[in-house]
Amino acid sequence: MKIRGSVAVVTGASSGIGRATALRLARRGADVVLAARRGEALQEVAAQCRRHGVRSLAVPTDVADERAVRVLAERAREEFGRIDVWINNAAVGSFAPFLQTPLADFRRVLDVNVMGYVYGCRQALEQMGAQGAGTVINVASIVGEVPQPYTAPYSMSKAAVRALGVSLRSELRLARARNIHVCTVLPPTIDTPFFQHGANYSGRRALAMPPVYTADAVARQILRLLGRPRPEAVVGLIGRSLVAQHRLMPRPVEAFMAVQVDRGQLSRREPAAPSPGSIYGPAAADAAGSVDGGWHGRARTVRRNTLAALLPAAAVAAAVRRQRRS
Ligand SMILES: NC(=O)c1ccc[n+]([C@@H]2O[C@H](COP(=O)([O-])OP(=O)(O)OC[C@H]3O[C@@H](n4cnc5c(N)ncnc54)[C@H](OP(=O)(O)O)[C@@H]3O)[C@@H](O)[C@H]2O)c1
Repeated sequence: MKIRGSVAVVTGASSGIGRATALRLARRGADVVLAARRGEALQEVAAQCRRHGVRSLAVPTDVADERAVRVLAERAREEFGRIDVWINNAAVGSFAPFLQTPLADFRRVLDVNVMGYVYGCRQALEQMGAQGAGTVINVASIVGEVPQPYTAPYSMSKAAVRALGVSLRSELRLARARNIHVCTVLPPTIDTPFFQHGANYSGRRALAMPPVYTADAVARQILRLLGRPRPEAVVGLIGRSLVAQHRLMPRPVEAFMAVQVDRGQLSRREPAAPSPGSIYGPAAADAAGSVDGGWHGRARTVRRNTLAALLPAAAVAAAVRRQRRS
């Protein structure tokens, strides 16, 4: 599809990947409808988008509220008359051992990350069905392929988003809706405020586990998918290598990831007080929002890329050797 002149709805546009994607879409000439809970941050992103000569609309929305997502689609239709692209991206994380994750938080993560995407897909596909064309992008995670410890609800939600994509593509194929696409994006660790925003009952500060890619790397992948839709796209060399290795040897890769997450995603030095983070409401201390999370994405990616590419292979080889011996 042609991005210039199209109308794109982006959820989670107040920070991180959603914000970077909205700005990139505007730079390429798309009108954008921006959704998240932080109204002030959305207005700022909308103003930045307008500087590229496109129209933009900020619609404060809680994606876990089906009525609010319906209103979001209505506002987009009223203002622009159509919806060519719908990017389901708004999501929250949770860091805690399974038994220490409050059930209310568990449900909230699934409500935002799964039902929020379901509500978005319903609005988008209804409109795209009437138009006869359109693309839905669902931002999942490589965690949807290789689930991690201490993030059970988040890992479940990202696996569910991938399954949703497969189901929807099957239905579209049966309906011969050749010009309607549903694509799933699987990013690895990205330099955004995601880790500061999540609920945390682990007692340890949540960190972005290297290698860390920039939010713009995901935005570029999303724009490539709009030009040439594919069912699934993994972002970055490390992500692609991890997914490929997991399909080949799931057990050693899962064992390796568990150790990596325990060492690299939850700090052993910095404690963290138990907190629901911003899963129930926007982060008050971060009203303006930002694209990056202060994890120095580009530098850390370059520095760690080679190491991270070698480590899984070494770990897998060691695990296979161990298994053979036993
Ligand atoms: N960062 C990573 O390492 C990483 C890796 C793989 C996948 N991802 C995925 O990438 C996507 C974007 O995350 P990010 O890294 O950009 O994190 P982020 O900076 O925390 O962005 C999350 C966005 O979702 C919005 N949001 C959260 N709850 C919401 C709700 N109930 N209703 C509406 N909006 C809500 C937040 O804005 P408000 O607070 O203003 O609502 C924010 O704009 C998510 O799907 C995440 O799972 C991230």
